[in-house]
Amino acid sequence: MRITICFGGSILVPGNPDLDCIRDIVRTVRELKSRNHEVLIVVGGGELARVYINAARELGIPGVDQDQIGIAATRLNAQLLIAALGDIADPTPATVFEKAVRAMLRGKVPIMGGTTPGQTTDAVAAMLAQVSKSELLIFFTNVDGVYTADPKLDPNAKKLDRITPDELAKLVGTEFKPGMKTIMDPVAVKIIQRSNIKTIVLGKHEIPRLPEILNGAKHTGTLIAR
Ligand SMILES: Nc1ncnc2c1ncn2[C@@H]1O[C@H](COP(=O)(O)OP(=O)(O)OP(=O)(O)O)[C@@H](O)[C@H]1O
Ligand SMILES: [Mg+2]
Repeated sequence: MRITICFGGSILVPGNPDLDCIRDIVRTVRELKSRNHEVLIVVGGGELARVYINAARELGIPGVDQDQIGIAATRLNAQLLIAALGDIADPTPATVFEKAVRAMLRGKVPIMGGTTPGQTTDAVAAMLAQVSKSELLIFFTNVDGVYTADPKLDPNAKKLDRITPDELAKLVGTEFKPGMKTIMDPVAVKIIQRSNIKTIVLGKHEIPRLPEILNGAKHTGTLIAR
């Protein structure tokens, strides 16, 4: 199966880089490759990006330049994962989708961070899934799925096993600022609505189970589908 996987910065770099999580990712991606899956990866910025974006904001640096600084942070995360994956990874973070797709077609695992100001890595992942004609798009993050509201702010929030792209669009709204904490940025949701790609949001504890999940095993996350 051809899949695009987004590893949220919140799990890669919750503060310092999470080495156990990175080791889990490496083991899982190797396993997926050995089972002949085609894998494309996008990584988020996490605390690293947020610390730098906040510093830029406090220095009065304009939004576009804040974004560039955030993108640089995502690429550092990408470079760390590339180095941890070794041989199977394309050696530099792809900055355009075509390069990532070409690397995938050569049998390598491309890893992208951010691409252009104004676009989050959620949107990059959704676009990469579309451009690469992936069968499945997976988001790993620090919550175990999509809830009716932010579970860290609302104790009555309930996890959804399934949600349609249209319902998700209503849930996330339209407002987005760099570094904001939403389950998925509205641009990514729009791309999923348009392309109708099957998408799953999973907690990081499911990373080691990804090979079985692709084989049809049950998961604890949220399926986004019509
Ligand atoms: N409806 C919702 N369902 C689940 N989580 C939500 C929801 N709305 C907001 N959140 C928040 O979104 C957070 C996850 O998004 P966040 O952007 O922090 O992580 P990430 O996307 O994995 O990392 P990064 O953006 O750095 O790549 C959760 O920790 C949760 O508090
Ligand atoms: Mg995010």
